[in-house]
Amino acid sequence: FNVPTAQNEPIYSYAPGSPERASLQQQLDAYLSTTLDIPMVIGGEEVRTDHTISIHPPHNIQHTLGHYHQGDETDIYRAIDAAQGAHQKWADLAWEHRASIFLKAADLIAGPYRDKINAATMLGQSKNAFQAEIDAACELVDFLRFNVNYMTQIYADQPASSPGVWNRVEYRPLEGFVFALTPFNFTSIAGNLPSAPAMMGNVVIWKPSKTAVYSAHIIMEVFREAGVPDGVINLVFASGPVAARVIFDHPDFAGIHFTGSTAVFQDIWKTIGNNILKYKTYPRIVGETGGKDFVIAHKSCDARAVATALTRGAFEYQGQKCSAASRAYLPASKWSEIKEHFLGQLKDLTMGDPCDFSHFVNAVIDEASFDKLAGEIKAAQAAPEAEILFGGRCDKTVGYFIEPTVILTTDPLYRTMQEELFGPVLTIYIYDDQKLDETLDLLDKTSIYALTGAVFAQDRYVIEKITRRLANAAGNFYINDKPTGAVVGQQPFGGARGSGTNDKAGSYLNMLRWVSPAPSKKTST
Ligand code: ALA
Repeated sequence: FNVPTAQNEPIYSYAPGSPERASLQQQLDAYLSTTLDIPMVIGGEEVRTDHTISIHPPHNIQHTLGHYHQGDETDIYRAIDAAQGAHQKWADLAWEHRASIFLKAADLIAGPYRDKINAATMLGQSKNAFQAEIDAACELVDFLRFNVNYMTQIYADQPASSPGVWNRVEYRPLEGFVFALTPFNFTSIAGNLPSAPAMMGNVVIWKPSKTAVYSAHIIMEVFREAGVPDGVINLVFASGPVAARVIFDHPDFAGIHFTGSTAVFQDIWKTIGNNILKYKTYPRIVGETGGKDFVIAHKSCDARAVATALTRGAFEYQGQKCSAASRAYLPASKWSEIKEHFLGQLKDLTMGDPCDFSHFVNAVIDEASFDKLAGEIKAAQAAPEAEILFGGRCDKTVGYFIEPTVILTTDPLYRTMQEELFGPVLTIYIYDDQKLDETLDLLDKTSIYALTGAVFAQDRYVIEKITRRLANAAGNFYINDKPTGAVVGQQPFGGARGSGTNDKAGSYLNMLRWVSPAPSKKTST
């Protein structure tokens, strides 16, 4: 069989007066006038508990969207049993069936579920319509369709044979179950982490972030409607420590597909290491974690392009992207020109409810994030080596609103030049044009993370020089563009150093991690 060659899903604009906007508005209204009851889904059964947790939009914390049923250790054990029970049949199913299920899931999201998944992301994670559309609808559809293509490439990748000797590689699923631990900031990633291993024939326990349960349950609905068999993907809600205790202790734990914080990933890795003798097989550890992503501009840069990259790269989705621009190194000779464009763009940004189709900036995800960001802003206001160039207002009376904030520092080692904040705070350091080499050395040395980086220059030799010098400081480079918004099928995404295992989400490389290849040789004698 040849499956369709994947194409990126076209992005709707939701322009005023468009039928797409009217339809999305209807879905938003429907969600706002109801309270959803969200169960876990284990072995195909909806599981409710007597411990419910309510869900509020981050931009309107008085409103209740619904509640979900929190599980405990018993539910995790039950999910593992359900997964193990489904394993053999699923692994034995011809790949064409798995492909057709996930292609159907993609079609459901692109079609009848598009409004639901976008509205749930807007309300539950405070993304505006454009950001939700790119993430929840288009990128998730892209992950599913492109991964089907990568799966078929992997199966087609067969060794040569010779007269009398026939060789074949069977790409078997892992022996055991995979744990998908997914973040709040991209609905697409939440859908990709369980579906990629499942597509390769694995069974999965999926625990979404507690701040993205509202959209996760729509993804699960899609998977079920598309025909993912009971037990193949099990959606559980539980506290991290409870889930970790059961899963990482289990002999059949075979892999983790993770996106989240560096600290949590490192803890997971240590736990897996400590438990290694308990497992049947060495678990696959695939993780994409934090970033402290840079923009470096050279004196030959286009100042307006740098300003736009900073505005969009640092402040789209309130900077809550592992890829967000959060530190910038700008040349002294260009600073006043860049500043003029940048401040001009920032003063036009409006902040508010994502559902009114007019605000670029919405709320950060929760109170813990708000408090951390507000604390860093306050510290910068008081620090002699820092000043607030723009923004700084923080208000949590209605929702968790942090104004896009630009810190200017005279110290390239200032804490917000090095620590990931995961919010709408950008720190800028102005370097002396004559000291490009020292600045590159410093940038590399302070890159504990290595996820994304953007280089702005119009001199080609300089672009070459900078990208070579910083080769290990980023997993994805952007030349004269913002460091965010990797497109599935075009820029496979992931980083190294503290940013993860660099197994590139949405790629052949990632899908290979979910199989255990078994070559066989047959002779004709
Ligand atoms: N894949 C997301 C981006 O590139 C994180 O911004």
